[in-house]
Amino acid sequence: MKIGIIGAGHIGGNLTRRLTALGHDVSVANSRGPETLHALVEETGATAVPVSEAARGAEIVVVTIPLKKAPDLPAGVLDGAADGFTLIETLNYYPQQRDGRIAAIEDEGLTESRWTERQLGHPVVKVFNGTYAQDILDKPRPAGAADRVALPIAGDDEAAKKAVRSLLDELGFDTVDAGGLDESWRQQPGTPVYGLAAGTDAVVAALAAASPTRPPEFRG
Ligand SMILES: NC(=O)c1ccc[n+]([C@@H]2O[C@H](COP(=O)([O-])OP(=O)(O)OC[C@H]3O[C@@H](n4cnc5c(N)ncnc54)[C@H](OP(=O)(O)O)[C@@H]3O)[C@@H](O)[C@H]2O)c1
Repeated sequence: MKIGIIGAGHIGGNLTRRLTALGHDVSVANSRGPETLHALVEETGATAVPVSEAARGAEIVVVTIPLKKAPDLPAGVLDGAADGFTLIETLNYYPQQRDGRIAAIEDEGLTESRWTERQLGHPVVKVFNGTYAQDILDKPRPAGAADRVALPIAGDDEAAKKAVRSLLDELGFDTVDAGGLDESWRQQPGTPVYGLAAGTDAVVAALAAASPTRPPEFRG
């Protein structure tokens, strides 16, 4: 598959590593330009591109940048993606450490993914937001393995979620459908499932135990 990755840091870098290893055709971009991604290109065989070209022809696009940077992406950044492409986002809102206060999230009560979707202008599927970057490399297991980790996914577009579940299976993870985007607070920072590396039953229980009240450490 042709996959575009916007963000080449901890998560974007490790997704580039795994997806190229699986034989996918990966284009990857950061904010500073393709010439700064030489080492990742050498290591993985991915193609480094300007951010405006990352989505070109892609069946799956992954946006994995600091949440506060989402509005900085160039207009039309997703133009040229394949018809019916799936958009994954991994973003978390860290108001105190990184992102500053965002009123639409804290006062209007938009989920972090709904806010992100509005910045990107295309339906998103939320996944990997509670997964340590290193776990993308260390935790993959074959289907059926007793210690296979399950990751929650949320989104409103069932076809896109199906595509993501299939990709996650290929990457070595089970998935748990956590519902639509307005339910995605169940997997935001500070919830029981956030950072959990466990199987399906534990993830289902953790999602059910989540509270919609934003913890104080994740308020700006
Ligand atoms: N680290 C984790 O374990 C983890 C786990 C789950 C979810 N997350 C979430 O996933 C997102 C990415 O996390 P990360 O740890 O991978 O971040 P990171 O290591 O700080 O990397 C961020 C990447 O985004 C790029 N970027 C920033 N602004 C951009 C722009 N306007 N256009 C294109 N690229 C841009 C950066 O490029 P430059 O370096 O060129 O600026 C960098 O490659 C965050 O929202 C984070 O909260 C992280």
